[in-house]
Amino acid sequence: MSEVIAIVSGKGGVGKTTLTANLGIALSELGHLVLVIDADIAMSNLSLLIGVDNPPITLHDVLLGSSSAADATYEGPKNLKIIPSGLSISNYQRVDVERLVSIVKSLKNEYDYILIDAPAGIDKNVIAAMSASSQILLITEPTAPSVADVFKAKIVAERLNQKVMGVVINKFSGIKGEITEKEIMKMLEVPSYGKIPYAEDIRESFLLKKIKPILIHNSASPSSNSFRDIARKISGKKDEVVKSNTKKGLFSFLRKMFSKNKI
Ligand SMILES: Nc1ncnc2c1ncn2[C@@H]1O[C@H](COP(=O)(O)OP(=O)(O)O)[C@@H](O)[C@H]1O
Ligand SMILES: [Mg+2]
Repeated sequence: MSEVIAIVSGKGGVGKTTLTANLGIALSELGHLVLVIDADIAMSNLSLLIGVDNPPITLHDVLLGSSSAADATYEGPKNLKIIPSGLSISNYQRVDVERLVSIVKSLKNEYDYILIDAPAGIDKNVIAAMSASSQILLITEPTAPSVADVFKAKIVAERLNQKVMGVVINKFSGIKGEITEKEIMKMLEVPSYGKIPYAEDIRESFLLKKIKPILIHNSASPSSNSFRDIARKISGKKDEVVKSNTKKGLFSFLRKMFSKNKI
């Protein structure tokens, strides 16, 4: 039975696709059979990062019911498998995103891990990605707007009765004013699965003529190893995960703000 993990942030551009691709490769390196699914059906770019160019059959076709999931599955690096999304705007507008739940269910016996790269926001496409998963891994930058948005996404997950396993903090640089890991755990009331530094080599890997995940571009770098640390924590060493301190207070103003506005 697969562990199905949706990578969710609320806010765009915080690193969902980067985490999905690199965590997928890191879990594959540990010997797991891993599938990544690009559920960002409007603004797909996971296949660009994985290196699957112009796939003829995509998740759009599977959601439209015209192809099987197997037909839309491609080979990535290190034995990682990927179901990419399509670029067609008209297909995007026609797809029935709710089918994602049954599609993922049909694949559950084939993989150890299925990682779902969710879209930004909290609309029906995100809800489909959350509903198809068994656990949700939040990702945020250590900034107030990003934490506020991921908090909102967490509330949506809770309303769907989906389990939020924890949070990854991305683009951490240690400069004054950044929200700390501890504060983020308190705010979200979930454990941290680790921090990924703001790293020039990750940015660089997106600027290559042929984009590559950092685990392929610069495999031995500290930023690559931070994804491996997260993979190890997910892959069984859950006792290593920093437990959250559920004391409220620090960010109660955000909680109050949201409840006052009855979101
Ligand atoms: N840890 C990091 N350090 C530096 N740049 C990063 C890091 N993580 C992601 N990025 C950059 O941020 C941009 C957005 O990342 P992406 O994974 O596409 O976000 P999302 O999928 O959440 O929209 C990309 O250009 C990527 O290279
Ligand atoms: Mg993305």
